[in-house]
Amino acid sequence: MAEEVELKRGLRDVYLDNTTASNVIGDVGKLIYRGYDIHDLAENSTFEETVFLLIHDRLPTQKELDSFDNQLRNNRELPIPVLDVINNIQSAHPMDVLRTAVSALSGFTEDAEDSSYEAALRKGIELTAKSPSIVAAHHRIRSGNDVIPPNPSLNHSGNFLNMLLGAEPDEDTNRLMDKDFIVHLDHGSNASSFAGRVTASTLADVHACVVSGIATLKGPLHGGAAEGVMKMALEIGDESNVEAYLNQKREKRERIMGFGHAVYRAEDPRARHLREGSRLLAEKAGDPKWFKILSKVEEKMAPYAERGICVNVDFWSGSVYYLLGIPEDLFISIFALARIPGYVVQVLEQQSRNILIRPLMRYTGAMDMKYIPISERS
Ligand code: CMC
Repeated sequence: MAEEVELKRGLRDVYLDNTTASNVIGDVGKLIYRGYDIHDLAENSTFEETVFLLIHDRLPTQKELDSFDNQLRNNRELPIPVLDVINNIQSAHPMDVLRTAVSALSGFTEDAEDSSYEAALRKGIELTAKSPSIVAAHHRIRSGNDVIPPNPSLNHSGNFLNMLLGAEPDEDTNRLMDKDFIVHLDHGSNASSFAGRVTASTLADVHACVVSGIATLKGPLHGGAAEGVMKMALEIGDESNVEAYLNQKREKRERIMGFGHAVYRAEDPRARHLREGSRLLAEKAGDPKWFKILSKVEEKMAPYAERGICVNVDFWSGSVYYLLGIPEDLFISIFALARIPGYVVQVLEQQSRNILIRPLMRYTGAMDMKYIPISERS
Protein backbone atom coordinates (compact mmCIF):
# COMPACT_ATOMS: atom_id res chain seq x y z
CA MET A 1 0.00 0.00 0.00
CA ALA A 2 1.26 3.51 -0.85
CA GLU A 3 2.59 5.61 1.99
CA GLU A 4 0.14 8.06 3.65
CA VAL A 5 1.51 11.50 2.79
CA GLU A 6 0.02 14.89 1.99
CA LEU A 7 0.49 15.23 -1.76
CA LYS A 8 0.80 18.67 -3.31
CA ARG A 9 0.41 17.77 -6.96
CA GLY A 10 2.13 20.23 -9.26
CA LEU A 11 3.69 21.73 -6.09
CA ARG A 12 0.65 24.00 -5.90
CA ASP A 13 0.50 26.12 -2.76
CA VAL A 14 4.00 24.99 -1.77
CA TYR A 15 6.42 27.72 -0.68
CA LEU A 16 9.82 26.63 -1.97
CA ASP A 17 11.99 29.39 -0.49
CA ASN A 18 12.09 33.12 0.25
CA THR A 19 12.57 35.60 -2.60
CA THR A 20 12.95 39.37 -2.80
CA ALA A 21 12.79 39.53 -6.63
CA SER A 22 9.09 39.47 -7.56
CA ASN A 23 5.78 38.86 -5.86
CA VAL A 24 2.60 37.70 -7.58
CA ILE A 25 -0.41 38.52 -5.38
CA GLY A 26 -2.99 36.38 -7.07
CA ASP A 27 -6.23 37.23 -5.26
CA VAL A 28 -5.99 40.96 -5.99
CA GLY A 29 -4.06 40.77 -9.29
CA LYS A 30 -0.91 42.58 -8.21
CA LEU A 31 2.67 42.09 -9.42
CA ILE A 32 5.66 43.58 -7.60
CA TYR A 33 9.32 43.71 -8.67
CA ARG A 34 11.67 44.47 -5.75
CA GLY A 35 8.91 46.38 -3.99
CA TYR A 36 7.79 48.42 -7.02
CA ASP A 37 4.33 47.92 -8.50
CA ILE A 38 4.45 46.69 -12.10
CA HIS A 39 2.14 49.54 -13.19
CA ASP A 40 4.59 52.13 -11.83
CA LEU A 41 7.49 50.48 -13.68
CA ALA A 42 5.54 49.95 -16.93
CA GLU A 43 4.50 53.62 -16.96
CA ASN A 44 7.74 55.23 -15.80
CA SER A 45 10.73 52.95 -16.20
CA THR A 46 12.50 51.28 -19.12
CA PHE A 47 13.40 47.64 -19.72
CA GLU A 48 17.10 48.33 -19.15
CA GLU A 49 16.41 50.14 -15.87
CA THR A 50 13.99 47.45 -14.66
CA VAL A 51 16.54 44.71 -15.40
CA PHE A 52 19.11 46.68 -13.37
CA LEU A 53 16.56 47.01 -10.55
CA LEU A 54 15.89 43.27 -10.52
CA ILE A 55 19.58 42.36 -10.60
CA HIS A 56 20.81 44.88 -8.01
CA ASP A 57 17.72 45.29 -5.82
CA ARG A 58 17.68 49.08 -6.29
CA LEU A 59 17.11 51.66 -8.99
CA PRO A 60 20.34 52.81 -10.69
CA THR A 61 21.85 56.30 -10.76
CA GLN A 62 22.04 57.81 -14.26
CA LYS A 63 25.73 56.87 -14.45
CA GLU A 64 25.04 53.27 -13.43
CA LEU A 65 22.17 53.01 -15.91
CA ASP A 66 24.32 54.37 -18.76
CA SER A 67 27.05 51.90 -17.97
CA PHE A 68 24.61 48.97 -17.76
CA ASP A 69 22.90 50.04 -20.98
CA ASN A 70 26.30 50.24 -22.73
CA GLN A 71 27.14 46.77 -21.53
CA LEU A 72 23.94 45.50 -23.17
CA ARG A 73 24.53 47.49 -26.39
CA ASN A 74 28.14 46.22 -26.66
CA ASN A 75 27.18 42.56 -26.32
CA ARG A 76 24.56 42.15 -29.04
CA GLU A 77 26.73 40.65 -31.78
CA LEU A 78 26.53 36.88 -32.33
CA PRO A 79 29.63 34.80 -33.13
CA ILE A 80 29.61 33.66 -36.79
CA PRO A 81 29.53 29.94 -35.83
CA VAL A 82 26.33 30.58 -33.83
CA LEU A 83 24.80 32.29 -36.89
CA ASP A 84 25.82 29.14 -38.80
CA VAL A 85 24.00 26.97 -36.25
CA ILE A 86 20.90 29.15 -36.68
CA ASN A 87 21.20 28.86 -40.45
CA ASN A 88 21.52 25.07 -40.27
CA ILE A 89 18.37 24.62 -38.19
CA GLN A 90 16.37 27.46 -39.73
CA SER A 91 13.26 25.31 -40.33
CA ALA A 92 12.90 24.51 -36.61
CA HIS A 93 10.42 26.32 -34.34
CA PRO A 94 11.86 29.71 -33.24
CA MET A 95 11.87 28.57 -29.59
CA ASP A 96 13.92 25.50 -30.51
CA VAL A 97 16.33 27.74 -32.42
CA LEU A 98 16.57 30.15 -29.47
CA ARG A 99 17.19 27.29 -27.02
CA THR A 100 19.83 25.72 -29.27
CA ALA A 101 21.62 28.99 -30.06
CA VAL A 102 21.76 29.95 -26.35
CA SER A 103 23.27 26.56 -25.67
CA ALA A 104 25.75 27.01 -28.54
CA LEU A 105 26.78 30.41 -27.13
CA SER A 106 28.28 28.66 -24.12
CA GLY A 107 30.96 27.39 -26.50
CA PHE A 108 31.97 30.99 -27.24
CA THR A 109 31.96 32.25 -23.67
CA GLU A 110 35.03 32.72 -21.56
CA ASP A 111 34.92 30.72 -18.34
CA ALA A 112 31.75 28.89 -19.42
CA GLU A 113 32.02 26.58 -16.41
CA ASP A 114 32.50 29.39 -13.88
CA SER A 115 29.41 29.64 -11.64
CA SER A 116 30.68 32.49 -9.44
CA TYR A 117 28.34 35.47 -8.96
CA GLU A 118 30.50 37.75 -11.14
CA ALA A 119 30.75 35.23 -13.99
CA ALA A 120 27.06 34.29 -13.81
CA LEU A 121 26.07 37.97 -13.87
CA ARG A 122 28.35 38.81 -16.81
CA LYS A 123 27.17 35.78 -18.80
CA GLY A 124 23.55 36.54 -17.90
CA ILE A 125 23.89 40.10 -19.20
CA GLU A 126 25.51 38.77 -22.38
CA LEU A 127 22.59 36.37 -22.89
CA THR A 128 20.09 39.19 -22.31
CA ALA A 129 21.89 41.28 -24.95
CA LYS A 130 22.39 38.49 -27.50
CA SER A 131 19.05 36.68 -27.34
CA PRO A 132 17.13 39.31 -29.41
CA SER A 133 19.86 38.98 -32.07
CA ILE A 134 19.19 35.21 -32.19
CA VAL A 135 15.43 35.56 -32.66
CA ALA A 136 15.79 38.33 -35.25
CA ALA A 137 18.61 36.64 -37.21
CA HIS A 138 16.68 33.37 -37.35
CA HIS A 139 13.55 35.06 -38.66
CA ARG A 140 15.52 37.00 -41.31
CA ILE A 141 17.37 33.87 -42.44
CA ARG A 142 14.26 31.68 -42.70
CA SER A 143 12.46 34.44 -44.62
CA GLY A 144 15.33 34.65 -47.14
CA ASN A 145 16.41 38.11 -45.95
CA ASP A 146 19.80 39.45 -44.90
CA VAL A 147 20.56 39.46 -41.19
CA ILE A 148 20.44 43.04 -39.87
CA PRO A 149 23.35 43.78 -37.53
CA PRO A 150 22.57 45.32 -34.14
CA ASN A 151 22.40 49.12 -34.11
CA PRO A 152 24.13 50.47 -30.96
CA SER A 153 22.27 53.78 -31.25
CA LEU A 154 18.94 52.03 -30.53
CA ASN A 155 17.70 50.87 -27.14
CA HIS A 156 17.12 47.18 -26.36
CA SER A 157 13.53 46.94 -27.62
CA GLY A 158 13.98 49.35 -30.56
CA ASN A 159 17.05 47.48 -31.75
CA PHE A 160 15.17 44.17 -31.56
CA LEU A 161 12.30 45.46 -33.69
CA ASN A 162 14.75 46.98 -36.16
CA MET A 163 16.72 43.73 -36.51
CA LEU A 164 13.50 41.70 -36.82
CA LEU A 165 11.37 43.85 -39.11
CA GLY A 166 14.03 45.85 -40.96
CA ALA A 167 12.68 49.26 -39.92
CA GLU A 168 13.30 51.45 -36.90
CA PRO A 169 10.10 51.60 -34.85
CA ASP A 170 8.45 54.95 -34.13
CA GLU A 171 8.58 56.22 -30.55
CA ASP A 172 5.15 54.84 -29.53
CA THR A 173 5.88 51.38 -30.91
CA ASN A 174 9.31 51.32 -29.30
CA ARG A 175 7.76 52.29 -25.96
CA LEU A 176 5.07 49.63 -26.30
CA MET A 177 7.67 46.90 -26.93
CA ASP A 178 9.65 48.23 -23.97
CA LYS A 179 6.54 47.94 -21.74
CA ASP A 180 5.88 44.45 -23.07
CA PHE A 181 9.41 43.42 -22.07
CA ILE A 182 9.02 45.05 -18.63
CA VAL A 183 5.78 43.26 -17.76
CA HIS A 184 7.13 39.86 -18.89
CA LEU A 185 10.44 40.14 -17.02
CA ASP A 186 9.80 38.13 -13.88
CA HIS A 187 6.87 36.35 -12.32
CA GLY A 188 7.56 34.55 -9.07
CA SER A 189 7.96 30.81 -9.19
CA ASN A 190 6.54 30.39 -12.69
CA ALA A 191 7.23 27.03 -14.34
CA SER A 192 10.16 28.12 -16.51
CA SER A 193 11.93 30.18 -13.82
CA PHE A 194 11.43 27.27 -11.46
CA ALA A 195 13.05 24.97 -14.05
CA GLY A 196 15.97 27.42 -14.24
CA ARG A 197 16.22 27.43 -10.44
CA VAL A 198 16.26 23.63 -10.26
CA THR A 199 19.15 23.64 -12.74
CA ALA A 200 20.91 26.42 -10.78
CA SER A 201 20.50 24.41 -7.59
CA THR A 202 22.83 21.73 -9.02
CA LEU A 203 25.44 24.53 -9.44
CA ALA A 204 25.19 24.21 -13.22
CA ASP A 205 26.29 27.27 -15.23
CA VAL A 206 23.97 30.10 -16.26
CA HIS A 207 23.68 28.97 -19.92
CA ALA A 208 22.37 25.60 -18.69
CA CYS A 209 19.84 27.35 -16.42
CA VAL A 210 18.58 29.65 -19.19
CA VAL A 211 18.27 26.70 -21.60
CA SER A 212 16.09 24.90 -18.99
CA GLY A 213 13.94 28.01 -18.68
CA ILE A 214 13.47 28.44 -22.44
CA ALA A 215 12.65 24.74 -22.88
CA THR A 216 9.96 24.95 -20.19
CA LEU A 217 8.46 28.20 -21.42
CA LYS A 218 7.61 26.66 -24.79
CA GLY A 219 4.50 24.75 -23.72
CA PRO A 220 1.00 26.08 -24.52
CA LEU A 221 0.01 26.23 -20.84
CA HIS A 222 2.85 28.69 -20.17
CA GLY A 223 4.41 30.86 -22.90
CA GLY A 224 2.57 29.32 -25.81
CA ALA A 225 -0.85 30.81 -25.07
CA ALA A 226 -0.35 34.14 -26.92
CA GLU A 227 0.01 32.25 -30.18
CA GLY A 228 -3.18 30.34 -29.34
CA VAL A 229 -5.08 33.57 -28.67
CA MET A 230 -4.30 35.06 -32.06
CA LYS A 231 -5.15 31.74 -33.75
CA MET A 232 -8.50 31.91 -31.94
CA ALA A 233 -9.10 35.51 -33.10
CA LEU A 234 -8.32 34.52 -36.70
CA GLU A 235 -10.64 31.50 -36.42
CA ILE A 236 -13.45 33.69 -35.05
CA GLY A 237 -12.87 36.08 -37.95
CA ASP A 238 -15.66 38.52 -37.09
CA GLU A 239 -17.09 40.12 -33.97
CA SER A 240 -20.50 38.59 -34.74
CA ASN A 241 -19.08 35.04 -34.43
CA VAL A 242 -17.69 35.46 -30.90
CA GLU A 243 -20.68 34.19 -28.95
CA ALA A 244 -21.17 31.07 -31.10
CA TYR A 245 -17.44 30.32 -30.95
CA LEU A 246 -17.33 30.55 -27.16
CA ASN A 247 -20.49 28.45 -26.78
CA GLN A 248 -18.97 25.75 -28.93
CA LYS A 249 -15.76 25.78 -26.85
CA ARG A 250 -17.83 25.59 -23.65
CA GLU A 251 -19.83 22.63 -24.96
CA LYS A 252 -16.65 20.76 -25.86
CA ARG A 253 -15.17 21.76 -22.47
CA GLU A 254 -12.17 23.26 -24.25
CA ARG A 255 -10.06 25.99 -22.69
CA ILE A 256 -10.03 29.52 -23.97
CA MET A 257 -6.43 30.59 -24.43
CA GLY A 258 -5.47 33.79 -22.62
CA PHE A 259 -7.77 33.11 -19.65
CA GLY A 260 -7.01 31.59 -16.28
CA HIS A 261 -3.81 31.47 -14.33
CA ALA A 262 -2.22 29.20 -11.78
CA VAL A 263 -1.94 32.09 -9.26
CA TYR A 264 -4.16 35.02 -10.34
CA ARG A 265 -7.80 34.83 -9.35
CA ALA A 266 -8.30 38.43 -10.52
CA GLU A 267 -7.25 40.14 -13.75
CA ASP A 268 -3.58 39.63 -14.55
CA PRO A 269 -2.11 43.14 -13.97
CA ARG A 270 0.15 42.76 -17.01
CA ALA A 271 -2.86 42.53 -19.33
CA ARG A 272 -3.83 46.19 -18.80
CA HIS A 273 -0.75 47.61 -20.51
CA LEU A 274 -1.00 45.33 -23.50
CA ARG A 275 -4.76 45.86 -23.89
CA GLU A 276 -4.06 49.59 -24.12
CA GLY A 277 -1.17 48.92 -26.54
CA SER A 278 -3.38 46.76 -28.72
CA ARG A 279 -6.06 49.47 -28.78
CA LEU A 280 -3.54 52.15 -29.78
CA LEU A 281 -1.98 50.01 -32.51
CA ALA A 282 -5.40 49.15 -33.93
CA GLU A 283 -6.33 52.84 -33.93
CA LYS A 284 -3.06 53.77 -35.62
CA ALA A 285 -3.46 51.10 -38.28
CA GLY A 286 -7.08 52.14 -38.82
CA ASP A 287 -7.94 48.44 -38.38
CA PRO A 288 -9.94 47.87 -35.17
CA LYS A 289 -11.14 44.38 -36.24
CA TRP A 290 -8.88 42.27 -33.98
CA PHE A 291 -9.20 44.62 -31.04
CA LYS A 292 -12.99 44.46 -31.36
CA ILE A 293 -13.06 40.65 -31.61
CA LEU A 294 -10.80 40.24 -28.57
CA SER A 295 -12.70 42.88 -26.57
CA LYS A 296 -15.91 40.98 -27.27
CA VAL A 297 -14.29 37.68 -26.19
CA GLU A 298 -13.17 39.38 -22.97
CA GLU A 299 -16.67 40.76 -22.40
CA LYS A 300 -18.35 37.40 -23.02
CA MET A 301 -15.90 35.60 -20.72
CA ALA A 302 -17.07 37.74 -17.77
CA PRO A 303 -19.02 34.86 -16.14
CA TYR A 304 -15.74 32.90 -15.88
CA ALA A 305 -14.28 35.65 -13.70
CA GLU A 306 -16.68 34.60 -10.93
CA ARG A 307 -14.73 31.31 -10.85
CA GLY A 308 -11.42 33.18 -10.81
CA ILE A 309 -10.73 32.52 -14.51
CA CYS A 310 -9.77 35.99 -15.66
CA VAL A 311 -7.89 37.48 -18.55
CA ASN A 312 -4.12 36.90 -18.49
CA VAL A 313 -1.13 38.64 -20.10
CA ASP A 314 -1.13 36.40 -23.17
CA PHE A 315 -4.62 37.41 -24.17
CA TRP A 316 -3.46 40.86 -25.24
CA SER A 317 0.22 40.34 -26.01
CA GLY A 318 -0.59 38.19 -29.05
CA SER A 319 -2.63 40.92 -30.70
CA VAL A 320 0.10 43.51 -30.03
CA TYR A 321 2.68 41.33 -31.79
CA TYR A 322 0.26 40.54 -34.61
CA LEU A 323 -0.47 44.23 -35.20
CA LEU A 324 3.28 44.91 -35.24
CA GLY A 325 3.51 42.45 -38.15
CA ILE A 326 5.28 39.75 -36.14
CA PRO A 327 4.46 36.16 -37.21
CA GLU A 328 2.58 34.05 -34.68
CA ASP A 329 5.28 31.42 -34.19
CA LEU A 330 7.56 34.14 -32.81
CA PHE A 331 5.22 35.17 -29.99
CA ILE A 332 6.67 32.80 -27.37
CA SER A 333 10.20 33.79 -28.31
CA ILE A 334 9.40 37.42 -27.53
CA PHE A 335 8.10 36.34 -24.13
CA ALA A 336 11.41 34.44 -23.71
CA LEU A 337 13.53 37.48 -24.60
CA ALA A 338 11.93 39.42 -21.77
CA ARG A 339 12.07 36.50 -19.32
CA ILE A 340 15.74 35.54 -19.89
CA PRO A 341 17.06 38.28 -17.54
CA GLY A 342 14.34 37.14 -15.11
CA TYR A 343 15.86 33.64 -15.19
CA VAL A 344 19.29 35.17 -14.56
CA VAL A 345 17.99 37.09 -11.53
CA GLN A 346 16.46 33.93 -10.07
CA VAL A 347 19.63 31.94 -10.79
CA LEU A 348 21.72 34.55 -8.94
CA GLU A 349 19.28 34.48 -6.03
CA GLN A 350 19.31 30.67 -5.91
CA GLN A 351 23.11 30.60 -6.01
CA SER A 352 23.42 33.22 -3.27
CA ARG A 353 22.14 30.70 -0.68
CA ASN A 354 21.91 27.50 -2.58
CA ILE A 355 20.17 24.31 -1.59
CA LEU A 356 19.74 21.42 -4.01
CA ILE A 357 16.07 21.34 -5.06
CA ARG A 358 15.05 17.74 -4.75
CA PRO A 359 11.39 17.01 -3.84
CA LEU A 360 9.94 13.56 -3.24
CA MET A 361 7.46 11.53 -5.27
CA ARG A 362 5.02 9.20 -3.55
CA TYR A 363 5.52 5.74 -5.05
CA THR A 364 2.25 4.02 -6.00
CA GLY A 365 3.68 1.29 -8.27
CA ALA A 366 4.11 -2.44 -7.78
CA MET A 367 6.30 -3.92 -5.04
CA ASP A 368 8.17 -7.19 -4.57
CA MET A 369 8.34 -8.13 -8.25
CA LYS A 370 10.86 -10.87 -9.11
CA TYR A 371 12.99 -10.62 -12.24
CA ILE A 372 12.03 -13.19 -14.93
CA PRO A 373 14.73 -13.98 -17.53
CA ILE A 374 13.67 -12.90 -21.03
CA SER A 375 13.65 -16.50 -22.29
CA GLU A 376 10.97 -17.39 -19.74
CA ARG A 377 8.63 -14.48 -20.50
CA SER A 378 5.55 -15.20 -22.63
N1 CMC B 1 -10.80 28.33 -20.27
C1 CMC B 1 -11.80 27.59 -19.76
N2 CMC B 1 -11.75 26.96 -18.58
C2 CMC B 1 -10.61 27.09 -17.88
C3 CMC B 1 -9.54 27.84 -18.34
C4 CMC B 1 -9.66 28.48 -19.59
N3 CMC B 1 -8.67 29.20 -20.11
N4 CMC B 1 -8.55 27.79 -17.43
C5 CMC B 1 -8.98 27.02 -16.43
N5 CMC B 1 -10.23 26.59 -16.70
C6 CMC B 1 -11.06 25.71 -15.88
C7 CMC B 1 -10.60 24.26 -16.04
O1 CMC B 1 -11.23 23.62 -17.12
C8 CMC B 1 -11.01 23.68 -14.70
O2 CMC B 1 -12.38 23.46 -14.72
P1 CMC B 1 -13.00 22.17 -13.97
O3 CMC B 1 -12.63 22.37 -12.52
O4 CMC B 1 -14.46 22.26 -14.25
O5 CMC B 1 -12.30 20.98 -14.57
C9 CMC B 1 -10.74 24.83 -13.73
O6 CMC B 1 -10.80 26.03 -14.51
C10 CMC B 1 -9.38 24.76 -13.08
O7 CMC B 1 -8.41 24.49 -14.07
P2 CMC B 1 -6.90 24.11 -13.73
O8 CMC B 1 -6.18 23.72 -14.97
O9 CMC B 1 -6.87 23.15 -12.59
O10 CMC B 1 -6.39 25.47 -13.18
P3 CMC B 1 -4.98 25.98 -13.22
O11 CMC B 1 -4.88 26.97 -12.13
O12 CMC B 1 -4.00 24.87 -13.23
O13 CMC B 1 -4.92 26.69 -14.64
C11 CMC B 1 -3.79 27.42 -16.57
C12 CMC B 1 -3.90 27.50 -15.05
C13 CMC B 1 -2.98 28.64 -17.06
C14 CMC B 1 -3.04 26.13 -16.94
C15 CMC B 1 -5.20 27.40 -17.21
O14 CMC B 1 -5.94 28.50 -16.77
C16 CMC B 1 -5.15 27.36 -18.73
O15 CMC B 1 -4.99 26.27 -19.32
N6 CMC B 1 -5.32 28.55 -19.39
C17 CMC B 1 -5.23 28.63 -20.83
C18 CMC B 1 -3.75 28.75 -21.23
C19 CMC B 1 -3.20 30.12 -20.93
O16 CMC B 1 -3.82 31.14 -21.21
N7 CMC B 1 -1.97 30.13 -20.40
C20 CMC B 1 -1.24 31.39 -20.14
C21 CMC B 1 -1.01 31.60 -18.67
S1 CMC B 1 -0.42 33.28 -18.38
C22 CMC B 1 1.21 33.23 -18.93
C23 CMC B 1 2.10 32.72 -17.88
O17 CMC B 1 2.30 33.45 -16.88
O18 CMC B 1 2.64 31.61 -18.07
